[in-house]
Amino acid sequence: MTIPELRSYTADDLEAAFGELASEVHRDATELDTPDRVEAFRLHWLGRKQGRLKRIGDAWLKNAPPEARKELGIRFNQLKQQIEGVLSAERLDGRNRESVAEALDITLPGIRPALGAEHPLIRTMQEIVGIFQRMGYSVGVGPEVETDYYNFEALNFPPNHPARDTQDTLIVARQEHKPLRDRLLMRTHTSPVQIRTMENQPPPVRIVIPGKVHRNDAADATHSPIFHQVEGLCVDENITFSDLKGTLDHAMKELFGSQVKTRFFPSFFPFTEPSADVQISCIFCGGKGCRKCKHSGWIELLGCGMVDPAVYDSVRAKQPGYDPRKISGFAFGMGVDRIAMMKYGISDIGLLYSGDVRFLEQFA
Ligand code: DAH
Repeated sequence: MTIPELRSYTADDLEAAFGELASEVHRDATELDTPDRVEAFRLHWLGRKQGRLKRIGDAWLKNAPPEARKELGIRFNQLKQQIEGVLSAERLDGRNRESVAEALDITLPGIRPALGAEHPLIRTMQEIVGIFQRMGYSVGVGPEVETDYYNFEALNFPPNHPARDTQDTLIVARQEHKPLRDRLLMRTHTSPVQIRTMENQPPPVRIVIPGKVHRNDAADATHSPIFHQVEGLCVDENITFSDLKGTLDHAMKELFGSQVKTRFFPSFFPFTEPSADVQISCIFCGGKGCRKCKHSGWIELLGCGMVDPAVYDSVRAKQPGYDPRKISGFAFGMGVDRIAMMKYGISDIGLLYSGDVRFLEQFA
């Protein structure tokens, strides 16, 4: 190994000699592509006995005049720092080579977080609720675990009504010791919230109640043990069946388009008298008749009627204002799932509850 020549200890000559050494280190550093070469580089420059720095230092210091020693020391230190800087950069680099997973490439494009989308059921429910809000209705909710009283008795269901049968109603276990009216069950419809609403506020009332309901039904393409309804209740002075017809006709036109027609068929519900089923002209064939409407041109969509005076009787002790001689009202209830399925062309109700992202993504 040659020791480079140091012509004199003047500032210029020191600058030139150390500059030459710095470029030598720099050149060596470009060739450190394996851990072995890094180690050889370290030994070559910093080896304790045979290292280049040590040997050049010894040679140059030996003849140095005392006043030049300090300057020499500073310059050797700088050179050593340069070499150590190369080594610590290589150590970092080497570690990254070993674990590519840890490497961070900040020039890669980021991961775009997926945007959430409203569930088609919630969207449909909001749409229905919005239509009634624009007609001045308020919005209410009630519990999904209900008592027999609110779900049935207060709504004028007789004690032996088939809907109370455990075949249809999911009941909460171990309630037999309680009087029938206090036993808990999963509400089978949103109508009990009619009672809760009237107990809490005197007439007039205009309210829609969206919510989840439960029935002991086997699941198939059109049935699910959990589904959704929007309930409506309007009670005031001089509310007539015409108001009911006008309100629901308007709501159906808002929901399905102004070309849609409605018709009202006599029906029965314990809590309304008279009661009606509402049909809309088939939105698939425009009323001409197709498979979807079973070639009738009409699709049955909701139940409604004038509130039965027996229902007002249930709340009169708490709210004497519900006096059928002074007020009257109508109520209605519609299935949200079926409406969503019609609006979005969904053929299996189960898809609404599957949580399958491939299905839900289509509504984003
Ligand atoms: N609760 C009924 C059901 O689940 C739907 C219904 C019909 C609600 C008529 C009403 C009504 O408020 O007046 O089938």
